[in-house]
Amino acid sequence: MAHSVAEQIGKLRAELRRHEYLYYVLDQPEISDDEYDRMMRGLRELEQKHPELITPDSPTQRVGGKPREGFVKVRHSSSMLSLDNALDEGELRDFDRRVRELVGGAPYRYASELKLDGLSMAVHYEDGLLKLAITRGDGEEGEDVTGNARTIRALPLRVEAPAPRFEVRGEVIMLLKYFEQLNAERERQGLPRYANPRNSAAGSLRVLEPRITASRKLDYCAYLFLVDGRPYYRSHWESLEALARLGFKVNSNRALCGDVDELLAFCANWEQRRDELGYEIDGVVAKVDSVAQQDALGWTSKAPRWAIAYKFAARQQETIVENIEVHVGRTGALTPVAHLRPVSVGGVTVSRATLHNEDEIGRLDVEIGDTVVIERSGDVIPKVVRVACKGKSRRPFRMPKQCPVCGGDVVRAEGGAASRCMNTNCPARLKESILHFSARGVMDIDGMGVALVDQLVDQGLVKSVADLYDLTAAQLIELERMAEKSAEKILANIQRSKQQPLARVLNGLGIPFVGERTAQILADTFGDLDKIADAGEETLQTAEEVGPKVAESIGRFFRESHNKALVERLRRAGLQFTHKARPAEGGALAGKVFVLTGTLPGMTREEAKAKIEAAGGKVTDSVSRKTSYVVAGETAGSKLDKARTLGVAVIDERTLMEMVGG
Ligand code: IVH
Repeated sequence: MAHSVAEQIGKLRAELRRHEYLYYVLDQPEISDDEYDRMMRGLRELEQKHPELITPDSPTQRVGGKPREGFVKVRHSSSMLSLDNALDEGELRDFDRRVRELVGGAPYRYASELKLDGLSMAVHYEDGLLKLAITRGDGEEGEDVTGNARTIRALPLRVEAPAPRFEVRGEVIMLLKYFEQLNAERERQGLPRYANPRNSAAGSLRVLEPRITASRKLDYCAYLFLVDGRPYYRSHWESLEALARLGFKVNSNRALCGDVDELLAFCANWEQRRDELGYEIDGVVAKVDSVAQQDALGWTSKAPRWAIAYKFAARQQETIVENIEVHVGRTGALTPVAHLRPVSVGGVTVSRATLHNEDEIGRLDVEIGDTVVIERSGDVIPKVVRVACKGKSRRPFRMPKQCPVCGGDVVRAEGGAASRCMNTNCPARLKESILHFSARGVMDIDGMGVALVDQLVDQGLVKSVADLYDLTAAQLIELERMAEKSAEKILANIQRSKQQPLARVLNGLGIPFVGERTAQILADTFGDLDKIADAGEETLQTAEEVGPKVAESIGRFFRESHNKALVERLRRAGLQFTHKARPAEGGALAGKVFVLTGTLPGMTREEAKAKIEAAGGKVTDSVSRKTSYVVAGETAGSKLDKARTLGVAVIDERTLMEMVGG
């Protein structure tokens, strides 16, 4: 009997979903990758012939949509606060004592889970379909990363919903094996390594192209199930079991502990066995299991009183300092870097550690050839803790008097810790400034990586960022690892960068103290690069958040003759020197600066911001003398205090609505 195409497609999807679940959630595949790929191809072909049957929850639709311009901020249904930490047994027992007192003698249990070292993300489902994924952000609002989250195969696109709308919170992580693969690949391409799996998971989730996120093979473990921002089940354990039943990945290394001693045993066990896991954990999270008891315990302003994170001690490892080399950064600062005999610290290979500066080396008394203790505490680049054993033929490190890259003079400013190369044309500085100029979020010149920049500078093809715009295909093809196709691509990307808005051009120039945000403010305020270059320091300071230090730095930059020449060349190359006028210039609120604080009764902050901007006003984060109005809602805090101290007008939502004429 012939099946309809719709039925066939439905069946294939169900099969694929089951195999994704077996593979990505349970880690128990029943078929080979080839078979899976074949099924997927079959479904794709059918869908191509019948595009009207494609639905967003189809397994073929994980990577879709176009790359994005940026991420939109979204408010969380309820705060995503962090947890208080217990750093040792004593602090964990203190926590337990407080819980015992507050529950008033009733029995209680701890649901204990591993503390996965990734980043938390909230995922919203409507009628069983994945609709919205939001990063934690500042806990109140995060970024909409839905397109990227959809590529995480452990995250179901559809589930049999127990409620019309619900929310799952959990941790996005990168397995160690993928982390190492990614870093090996980046090293091959001459790109900098990621410091740890957490950073690479965060970086991978926040790229603008879902295709890249997909290639990073992120994982997601769920640990909260909420409806309207509240726990849906009566106990945390029930939530975890329900999540697992619904098809979410829930970490299986969990336990219900009857008392603090059981909890401590759980912690000790996993602290010892953490290296057996294929992912990073930095502790154990214990939650009072009963939601009624959680409610009774309540929250402080920062964290729930019913949960605690027991943190493991940082991992340490001994290894030998094989050399100390100097890295020259974009500002010319020389940083001594210890090159270590590679050593695995909790599954991550470490071969370098920063020594910061001469003073730090003196404090540690470390020399080349020493055996040192290094520490990796999850979130930072490894650091050298102390010398374990002085090398027999140890050699001291001396900060070079001449820049190792260009031979220019190295000067350590009096009272400062940093030594700097004084040559503004130093190739190392030049390379760093080209990388900064081309970076994602700045001029976005895809393909302009370390390996290429090295060659361009070393062969004298590029002596300033302006030279990028004069490069020819013939020049590029001569370079190593450069085929005709990739040369063309890069030239096209360089051409395209000419369309980047003024704020990015300003950021790209690398003016000290002018980063992304200040550049945006300058562009918004003055609208024209020449106006900024010609403005006196006083005029510059009329811009929000621009103080004397920043103004001076901008002034100095544009006075220097080679910077003047650079600007002229960039102008001739056709970069954007004027800011496209904002639609509402001259609106009712033109020139007015607002700060929003607290919860507004009738709209979200995003909505309020949109209304203000539509009327020509501006919204900033912090209150200063330049703020025109603070719009205060319920539970407004320190910003309101600051407004009162500075004498800034405070208004409520109603007044705001009148001002915008709504
Ligand atoms: S529960 C109110 N459970 O740790 C409950 N968090 O320091 C909030 N984390 O932001 C979180 N594993 O990113 C919880 N099993 C786990 C966790 C976990 C990792 C992270 C999470 C959170 C941070 C708190």
